[in-house]
Amino acid sequence: MATGVLILGASGMLGQALTRACRKRGIDAVGVARRAHPMVDLTIDSLDDAALTQAIEQTRPGVVINAAALVNLTACEADPGGAYRINARLPALLANLSREHGFQLVQISTDHFYAGDGAALHDEIAPVQLLNEYARTKFAGEAFALTAPGAWVLRTNLVGFRAEPAQPTFVEWALDGLTRRQPMTLFSDYFTSSIAVRLFADLLLDALPQRPSGLLNLASREAASKQTFIELLAHVAGLDAGACSIGSVAALPGARRADSLGLDVRRAETLLGRAMPALSDTIAALMSEYNERKSCVTTASST
Ligand SMILES: NC(=O)c1ccc[n+]([C@@H]2O[C@H](COP(=O)([O-])OP(=O)(O)OC[C@H]3O[C@@H](n4cnc5c(N)ncnc54)[C@H](OP(=O)(O)O)[C@@H]3O)[C@@H](O)[C@H]2O)c1
Repeated sequence: MATGVLILGASGMLGQALTRACRKRGIDAVGVARRAHPMVDLTIDSLDDAALTQAIEQTRPGVVINAAALVNLTACEADPGGAYRINARLPALLANLSREHGFQLVQISTDHFYAGDGAALHDEIAPVQLLNEYARTKFAGEAFALTAPGAWVLRTNLVGFRAEPAQPTFVEWALDGLTRRQPMTLFSDYFTSSIAVRLFADLLLDALPQRPSGLLNLASREAASKQTFIELLAHVAGLDAGACSIGSVAALPGARRADSLGLDVRRAETLLGRAMPALSDTIAALMSEYNERKSCVTTASST
């Protein structure tokens, strides 16, 4: 039986973490993306049906994890067709390929489905609101993925590092702004159950041998506002948040955003037999990765 893991979106924030975690565990993983990157073994456009089918025929994976997506809300609004192709049509094609080739499809989804109830935690059957193209296309992607036998769909909120200077992640933006004491607006009314991508990747790989299926929230066990998140990050990093001001996510221009993204992770805790990480665990994991990355840069520049 095929055992390897094919990871789509291996150049992205999550894809990098997943591919690295697989390699660390000795899992045979093939990273796929359009761009060359140390975590990418196969450079193809996953939207090219023939190239994707050929990649699956050649690598014969036991599991395909789809972390490829268009995650930028503004870009999704500007190009709903493009957002549909990557966020929804790709999981539909993968579901068909899963049926033909027998691999398990793991679809990474989002938490961008809830609004108006503050720090409430939403379980897997909570009613959703689809307020923008990102949410609409990701929700369609969940439904399409679930047509594959045994598909596993994960809702989450991820924080971490991508190391693409032109495209900083939320955490990279926050740490850079805090370090340079730049004025930043911290949203006090935007709540997420953010989990460090490294912790998420490890939990996903820990659960995989049980062959879980259906929809599951895999995230932090608590929801915190972005204000709380950045203030704690600053405190643990020893940085001064004094230049920050408090604001509302509702003031952001453009597409309407969900603002109450908290996820109830009790099902994940039952599946994995342990408590999901708290906010403090995520901040600790981020700081540990930040310091590792800083020491790599320092070592490289001093040799
Ligand atoms: N970041 C968050 O805050 C967050 C929160 C909740 C859920 N999620 C979900 O987590 C998953 C991973 O997100 P991320 O933050 O890691 O995203 P990311 O850093 O933007 O990575 C996205 C990946 O998708 C690939 N991709 C984009 N367009 C593509 C296309 N047309 N064809 C093929 N590949 C394409 C990119 O690779 P190339 O451009 O190199 O091909 C990249 O590797 C997504 O499903 C997202 O919805 C993210």
